[in-house]
Amino acid sequence: MDTIQDYLNSGAKDIAPLLSLMLGKNQAQLIAYNDHCLSNEEKSKINKLISQREKGVPFAYISGTKGFYHLEFKVTPDTLIPRPETELLIDIALDLFNQQQHPKIIDLGTGSGIIAITLADKNPKWNITATDYSQSALNIAKQNTTTAINFQKGSWFDAVPNKTFDLIVSNPPYIRENDPYLNDLTYEPITALTSGRDGLDDIRIIIDNAPKHLNKDGYILLEHGYDQQAKIIELLSVDFINIKTFRDYNKNDRAIVAQIK
Ligand SMILES: C[S@@+](CC[C@H](N)C(=O)[O-])C[C@H]1O[C@@H](n2cnc3c(N)ncnc32)[C@H](O)[C@@H]1O
Repeated sequence: MDTIQDYLNSGAKDIAPLLSLMLGKNQAQLIAYNDHCLSNEEKSKINKLISQREKGVPFAYISGTKGFYHLEFKVTPDTLIPRPETELLIDIALDLFNQQQHPKIIDLGTGSGIIAITLADKNPKWNITATDYSQSALNIAKQNTTTAINFQKGSWFDAVPNKTFDLIVSNPPYIRENDPYLNDLTYEPITALTSGRDGLDDIRIIIDNAPKHLNKDGYILLEHGYDQQAKIIELLSVDFINIKTFRDYNKNDRAIVAQIK
């Protein structure tokens, strides 16, 4: 294989984005220059990228970035790769408050920072805190920040003792620890994915402790697994009212919001 077109014809997984990444050309330029012959150095680089992708390394860890909502985020193997489903949490949070309000919001388990940073970028006057117990993830989130965010390290609410908020939002780990789906996710940090036998250990901790950290009429907003909604409604019913559920782009149950009693 010598030319861009030869590589495009090769059928290698994600070959067009890999070529774009390595040559610094967009997809239209790849087509315009499709008869360009790759140098030996370029061939060796692209062959390395093809082999990483074929071994299953996610494209986002090869490129080092992933788009989410209106922003591009740095990601590394220390952070979960942002999922399009999580954009639902942004839409719900933006609907809860208007631009005249200045709510205090906490994003628990921020990872690369997508939820906190997207909300803060859309509403720079909102008072936003982001936490994670992984210092490596927090370091990446800080690099992704576009406007002021208060970052705190610690396990769930231990990161913010005695602090209260108008909205607690979280996309916590929620996969069952023996779920076969984990076989497809071996490159992402396991601590960002699994949460005990039923996948609900972290959600239980967050729901149980949320009341102490919510202001009057405050909300909790959670992402969860497609089959966990009924159980989460039961957990929320103890201290919360106005429970509303949401489906993602694939019509799977995916998010829930509720207001403190
Ligand atoms: C599913 S990932 C979500 C990351 C990011 N919010 C997103 O939506 O892409 C869960 C995050 O929770 C963090 N986490 C796991 N256990 C935690 C704990 N006990 N306390 C705080 N953060 C935790 C993980 O490090 C990870 O960044």
